[in-house]
Amino acid sequence: MSKEQIAAGQAVYTKRMLSAYDFLVLGISNSLIWKCPSQRLLEHYNRHVSANHLDVGFGTGYFLDHCRFPSHTPRIALMDLNRNSLDFASRRIARYKPETYIRNVLEPIAIDALRFDSIGINYLLHCLPGTMESKSVAFDHLKALMNPGAVLFGSTLLQGGVARSWYAKSLMDFYNIKGIFSNAHDDAEDLNRALSQRFRSVCVEIVGCVAVFSGCA
Ligand SMILES: C[S@@+](CC[C@H](N)C(=O)[O-])C[C@H]1O[C@@H](n2cnc3c(N)ncnc32)[C@H](O)[C@@H]1O
Repeated sequence: MSKEQIAAGQAVYTKRMLSAYDFLVLGISNSLIWKCPSQRLLEHYNRHVSANHLDVGFGTGYFLDHCRFPSHTPRIALMDLNRNSLDFASRRIARYKPETYIRNVLEPIAIDALRFDSIGINYLLHCLPGTMESKSVAFDHLKALMNPGAVLFGSTLLQGGVARSWYAKSLMDFYNIKGIFSNAHDDAEDLNRALSQRFRSVCVEIVGCVAVFSGCA
């Protein structure tokens, strides 16, 4: 996949877009188009997030701002390819004094830091170019940052193995043409396989056209 395709998956997150994202995506699209309310995704965070957490592709940081950490002083690290997201979210959760990293998950990740007990990748995979098999290299890169027994969790929009309304199909097609999404060939079976090849206790639940997943290192 080209540098341009990778860049397109994050270029849309300008300061202006980020200030509208929670309302448009988390407020409207999730409930009405993707049929997976943000409350369901927040519950997923509350179930899996640890006090030693890395979040990758966090956008505005909404879920980190609203989820319940099992400690008042969690260690939180933010990793994203987009500087605007990093600035926006690190300001939003400044109370947790997050570590910040600009990285591309499709490349091996070197950071001089302790490993993590949980990693969140909410709505990241459908922004990554490639097939499910090729973009799953991100799982390998992130697994290298996990302590034994740590959990990787998140969700992603799929096209195969899910029910999609006409509106969902049209909006996904539009985002794929723009390069904002690259999920034309993503399906539930391939996601399950990619996770099961790398993690234990894998769980993939389909809610609307979203796969909500987790697996342990
Ligand atoms: C759709 S947003 C998800 C935001 C948030 N997690 C949520 O669920 O609302 C995707 C995020 O992934 C980041 N991203 C896209 N491609 C990336 C890559 N190759 N490496 C790291 N982050 C990437 C974008 O910059 C953006 O912050």
